[in-house]
Amino acid sequence: MMKRQLLFGVNLKMHQTPEESVAYFAAAAATPADGARVFVAFPATSLDAVASFARDHASQELWIAAQNMHWEPEGSFTGEISAEMLAAVEVDLVILGHAERRMLFHETDAEINQKVLTALGHGLRVLLCIGESAEDRGFDVSEETLLRQLKIGLHDVPDSAVNLLHVAYEPVWSIGPEGEPAEPEAIAPAAAAIRMALDEHFGAAGQQVPILYGGSVTPENAPEFLATPGIEGLLVGRAAWSIAGFQETLASVISLGSRHDAPLMTGD
Ligand code: PGA
Repeated sequence: MMKRQLLFGVNLKMHQTPEESVAYFAAAAATPADGARVFVAFPATSLDAVASFARDHASQELWIAAQNMHWEPEGSFTGEISAEMLAAVEVDLVILGHAERRMLFHETDAEINQKVLTALGHGLRVLLCIGESAEDRGFDVSEETLLRQLKIGLHDVPDSAVNLLHVAYEPVWSIGPEGEPAEPEAIAPAAAAIRMALDEHFGAAGQQVPILYGGSVTPENAPEFLATPGIEGLLVGRAAWSIAGFQETLASVISLGSRHDAPLMTGD
């Protein structure tokens, strides 16, 4: 039986100039990860500079991620970035459907599905983010919302793309400075529902898709999240916006990296 590889992702959101991002990347790539797969989602304007730096320093351990993309290959879409553009700067992964994109920029499940299909079609790894709102939780329809977002997000995704796919469970009410960290007792059933839907979509191969938790992760609570059944990685926001915060949060979990047995191996 193979061990799961711990996934540790950082979402820098709208922070850092290219110069700051290169410094962050250099420090993050030099931080011992003890076999964990680390990725950092930089702002779009930093991607090229970070990827060039990674090439020049033969640094391939840390994945470079984008935070969003458009599904069309080109056209009159002011302010948007295509999958081709991300692939051209050798991005390793793209975050799609983040709660802030859904809420603040009104992205729909159907649009996110188009993005997922396009990104996978270009060989980009995808981190599909899903999560219920506080209102959903209040009306006890969290699972319905999660499954709706997941099923529409994955509609028409072929089995051949399963190895590129990652899912982040990020309850909307847990994200950002106003957010409260989710209780592990609430996360485990959500992860189980997500896993079941992945199995329905992909069959046994669905087991390969890692499920991450995100929302108010800190060095203090990260080990508990990672100990939650069904959670194989973390997506960290503000706690890791400084390199000191990144290092402290990563250090809090790397010793737990291989605690989950799994029937199939992920990562490489
Ligand atoms: P947070 O952000 O850790 O600052 O809550 C997480 C995210 O948005 O992915």
